[in-house]
This record gives sequence, structure tokens and C-alpha cells, in this order.
Amino acid sequence: MSGLRYALWGVLPYAVLVLFAAGTVWRFRHDRFGVTTRSSQLHESRLLSVGGPLFHYGLLFVIAGHVIGLVVPERVTEDLRVPESLYRANALLVGGVAGAATVAGLAVLVARRLRVRAVRRASDRTDRALYPILATVLLAGLAATLLAPAGDYDYRLGVSVWFRSVFLLHPNVGAISGAPLLYQAHALLGLALFALWPFSRLVHAFAAPVAYPFRAYVVYRSRNVRRRPFA
Ligand code: HEM
Repeated sequence: MSGLRYALWGVLPYAVLVLFAAGTVWRFRHDRFGVTTRSSQLHESRLLSVGGPLFHYGLLFVIAGHVIGLVVPERVTEDLRVPESLYRANALLVGGVAGAATVAGLAVLVARRLRVRAVRRASDRTDRALYPILATVLLAGLAATLLAPAGDYDYRLGVSVWFRSVFLLHPNVGAISGAPLLYQAHALLGLALFALWPFSRLVHAFAAPVAYPFRAYVVYRSRNVRRRPFA
């Protein structure tokens, strides 16, 4: 096995995981109040209200698809008697629609960032690195999904095996280095995105107000209300 393949698929994922974890801790400790989207809604809200939901709701389905496709071994769906043809049709339909929605949402957000002067001026160096990587990750993933029916590659027997092996601390380099280049490029760009994550606006994912619907009510009382005498 060549040194390059081992470096890319056996060493790089761990370097990225360490950078991701350490970078996130560093960001929370040194830039506690910078862990935000750096929202530009005050500059422009119409395009944001279209691109934002399209991108984020699409991404939720993309993430769900990755959990199923990468984490659940193929033999589990076989044991559950899910026909391979049904699995693939579902991946193509749901993955295709979710991926296309995410790409369309990102296109609106990028166009807004480039064309609306105030939003462009509110962008920084990390945005200039982030958006091209994000766009190419999405496009490569979507292309892999849409082109899948034209080939006979089963990513669940290759890319997914490598993905799980990384977390089992025994990276199966051969499982991914034999994958079509499009899949390898997609996974590498994904790793680049995770490396940049803590240092970019993506860190706001950790500040999502998930506890909001479950928190206790905040009770507001007017200062001017005269106290009623006790009965
Ligand atoms: C190392 C990390 C990643 C791996 C191993 C991976 C792997 C895959 C695989 C195997 C597919 C399916 C292709 C098919 O259906 O044939 C896919 C599709 C896709 N990926 Fe990834 N991916 C990774 C990270 C990401 C990230 C970070 C994003 C976006 C931010 C992303 C976005 C997509 C999209 C949009 C698709 C199209 C299908 C869908 O909507 O799920 N991927 N990816």
C-alpha cells in the first residue's frame, strides 16, 4: 500500500478529528461570544429567508442519509429484508432531492453574499475558504448520488466500511482507496470542511438553540403594575 494512500485515509482522518475537537474547545474558551453565525440578517433578509431554510432543511436530510449510509452496515438492512433495489431507489430519490435543495439554498446564500454589498463587506477570510469547500463537497456528493445508477459501485461495501473503521481505531485504507475518484474527492473535501469547521462560521452549529422548546418559560412582569393588597 502506497504511503500517500495511508497518509490520506489512515492518518489524515485522525489529524482532522483532533483539530476539530481541539479547535472547538479553543474557540469556546477564547472566543466564547464569537460562537455565532455572525448573522447578516440586518443587512438583507429577503434572500436569507429563502436560502437559509432551503440549505438547512436540505442539510438535515443529507445528514440523516449519511448516518444511515455510513454508519449502518449493509448486512443490517439485508437482515431487515430491505431489498437493495429499494435502498438504492430511496437513496437516489431522498438523497437527490435533499442534496439538490441544499445546493440550491447554498447558491442563493453565496449569490447574496457576493451581490449585496453590505453582506460582502461583512464577510471575512474564513468565508472565502469556507464557501468554495462547502460548494464542492455538496456538488461532489450530489454528483456521486446522481451518477450511482450509471455504475455498479456499492459505497456501503467500500466508503462506509472505511468510515466505520476510522472510529474503531483500525482504519481500513484499502476499503476507500479502491473507491471511484468522485467518492474519494467527496470524502477528502468533507475532511477539509471538518478541519475548517471550528475556525469558521460553521461553529454556530454548536450554538443552535436546541434546548429552547424545553426550557422553562421566562415570566415578564410590568414594573408599573400596582401590587394588589392581599385578600
Ligand atoms: C468524510 C466525510 C464524508 C463521507 C465519507 C461522505 C460520503 C458520502 C457518500 C458515500 C455519499 C453517497 C453517494 C451515493 O449515493 O452514491 C454522499 C453523498 C452526499 N454527501 Fe457526503 N460524505 C461526507 C461528508 C459530507 C459533508 C461534510 C457534506 C456536506 C456538508 C456532504 C454532502 C453530501 C451530499 C449533498 C450528498 C448527496 C446525497 C445526499 O443528499 O445525501 N457529505 N456522501
